[in-house]
Amino acid sequence: MRCEPALKSPPGGLRVSNVGVTYPNGVVALQCANVEFRKGEFTVLLGLSGAGKSTLLRSLNLLVRPTSGEVVSPEFGALGSAKALRQHRRQTAFVFQHHQLIERFSALANVLTGRLGYHGTLRSFFPLPRPELELALHCLERVGLADKAMSRVDQLSGGQQQRVGIARALAQQPTLILADEPVASLDPATSEKVLGLLRQICKEDGITAVVSLHQLEYAQRFADRIVGLANARIVFDGAARDLSEARLGEIYAGHKRPNEQAPESPMGGEIPVKPVFTPEMEMSL
Ligand SMILES: Nc1ncnc2c1ncn2[C@@H]1O[C@H](COP(=O)(O)OP(=O)(O)OP(=O)(O)O)[C@@H](O)[C@H]1O
Ligand SMILES: [Mg+2]
Repeated sequence: MRCEPALKSPPGGLRVSNVGVTYPNGVVALQCANVEFRKGEFTVLLGLSGAGKSTLLRSLNLLVRPTSGEVVSPEFGALGSAKALRQHRRQTAFVFQHHQLIERFSALANVLTGRLGYHGTLRSFFPLPRPELELALHCLERVGLADKAMSRVDQLSGGQQQRVGIARALAQQPTLILADEPVASLDPATSEKVLGLLRQICKEDGITAVVSLHQLEYAQRFADRIVGLANARIVFDGAARDLSEARLGEIYAGHKRPNEQAPESPMGGEIPVKPVFTPEMEMSL
């Protein structure tokens, strides 16, 4: 099928140009997607289940290969080139719905896995240089979990685990964070805390974020920009305040809209603890 002409925006963001994805089983998951994710913006992907959010998100670092069109990095060029893709992936971090942490490892060890991309193999990563440990600990401090550095992650709450997931992403020192329903397994209060924290950190570090969510309420509260998908197409791309009833109708096509409320500020009542290295920490890694 033919797409509309691609966007002609000035360069500077990650550009998705006429991207289509048809899975091997014939499902058309994305059609003619034209969108640019500008540097430092916090964009939320909204849409019903099956609309194509994960497919679009995963195509941004070619975890899903577009069957048409291209994704172009502002720094490295079209990701079709193996070198550009390698460089782009190194500075792109993923935050998953189910954390994907190594459960029997400590929070600190999990965060350190975010550094593996810089070291090639696990073996070349040891002995751990002190700056790596300090960076990992600093990342845990930023998500308010310095005091849990040595706790096994399977002994942490779901919200704490997701914060470890964010710390691991940060340890990668990314310029782009992709998060696929990062709060889908969390209660409303914890969801708001985690999203607030993610947004705050991305803003502080100038990280571009693309986050898929089911909760319209959170999208309107946290997003600089919303990209709405329906039936494998982008049907809205604009500021949250421009998301009119008519445009919402296009995204949700008459279905019940997911909406959740949750008061509370980022980090809640928890008091961040200043991290201190102990010999025990170094030995147990
Ligand atoms: N690996 C795959 N192989 C075949 N079809 C797939 C694959 N992944 C997704 N699909 C299909 O592609 C379409 C879009 O799926 P996608 O996961 O992108 O939707 P989504 O908006 O993320 O949905 P959800 O909100 O449920 O996560 C759906 O019809 C889905 O069944
Ligand atoms: Mg999905």
